[in-house]
Amino acid sequence: MRFSHFVHCNKTFAKDPLCRAEGGRQQPHSCCEVEQWDSDEPIPVKELARGVAGAHGLLCLLSDRVDKRILDAAARPWPFWACASCEGGPSSAPSSSGMSSPSRSHGSQPVEGSASPCEAVVTVLRKGANLKVISTLSVGVDHLALDEIKKRGIRVGYTPDVLTDATAELAVSLLLTTCRRLPEAIEEVKNGGWTSWKPLWLCGYGLTQSTVGIVGLGRIGRQPRPEEAAEFQAEFVSTPELAAQSDFIVVACSLTPATKGLCNKDFFQKMKETAVFVNISRGDVVNQDDLYQALASGQIAAAGLDVTTPEPLPTNHPLLTLKNCVILPHIGSATHRTRNTMSMLAANNLLAGLRGEPMPSELML
Ligand code: DGY
Repeated sequence: MRFSHFVHCNKTFAKDPLCRAEGGRQQPHSCCEVEQWDSDEPIPVKELARGVAGAHGLLCLLSDRVDKRILDAAARPWPFWACASCEGGPSSAPSSSGMSSPSRSHGSQPVEGSASPCEAVVTVLRKGANLKVISTLSVGVDHLALDEIKKRGIRVGYTPDVLTDATAELAVSLLLTTCRRLPEAIEEVKNGGWTSWKPLWLCGYGLTQSTVGIVGLGRIGRQPRPEEAAEFQAEFVSTPELAAQSDFIVVACSLTPATKGLCNKDFFQKMKETAVFVNISRGDVVNQDDLYQALASGQIAAAGLDVTTPEPLPTNHPLLTLKNCVILPHIGSATHRTRNTMSMLAANNLLAGLRGEPMPSELML
């Protein structure tokens, strides 16, 4: 399955990825027509707004902002031609815009008034306010305008749990990469800076006997309830206390209005000068200007970021000039197995939502 976008409408055809999501059996004509953005590159907002018009379901990525504008576009009727006499399913051949269009194999046009070569043609008007379900290929849902979505009675599917291990592994990798200064060390080997073994050269900070603070004891931070902290020999403390006591801080919380900008000047000022800061959640949890100052002035030792604002981070961003800042391109869940599992779950969420059945992983709004 490709990691791209699907726009679905409850009609007569099921396309490949969705059929496979139902256990490998092909089920043509069973559930829906699919229009797919057939590229790994992000779908342009305009194209998403066009494709979602009148659709019953949307499978999106965390990089797709599903805001009021997209929801309004979804509610717009979108007339398109369907061939009443053809039994076969729509083609998945990409249109010139990159969309795999459901109507192309019929030679029809998704534009009102367009001529169709098929004789028995009916115009099907996708009525407004059809959108029933949004399925996101992510555990994070900060890219979705949840209040608006709830108001419109749209259900949301997401992909919790299945990416927890991969993201936790990445958090540990990034933490060790940052505190043991691996990128600097690799660079020295390549550029001839490795002249001999030197006692203090490239020394960093080790995890042994350290205190690790986790902001956001959720799935990736292991467990959600303060009273369970003891089970992991952990202690539940306030945010300022966590900042002050930790040798390593890993941010793993969701981005919400309450966590936006949580790690700011105040937070960094409380941290130890030898402490290492890691963020695997969302860039907006951190005030990046404040982080830059804290790193550049030596207020904290180092930072490892798998997420930034914006994404991608511009290559001339000041954080990229710092040796003590390691930045990865949001690869927390990027293992083959995890992404496959996420995509199956996202497809199954979508199908269940379209059928009005309980979703494997529904976000309760
Ligand atoms: C998510 O699913 O929200 C993660 O950020 C992906 O790595």
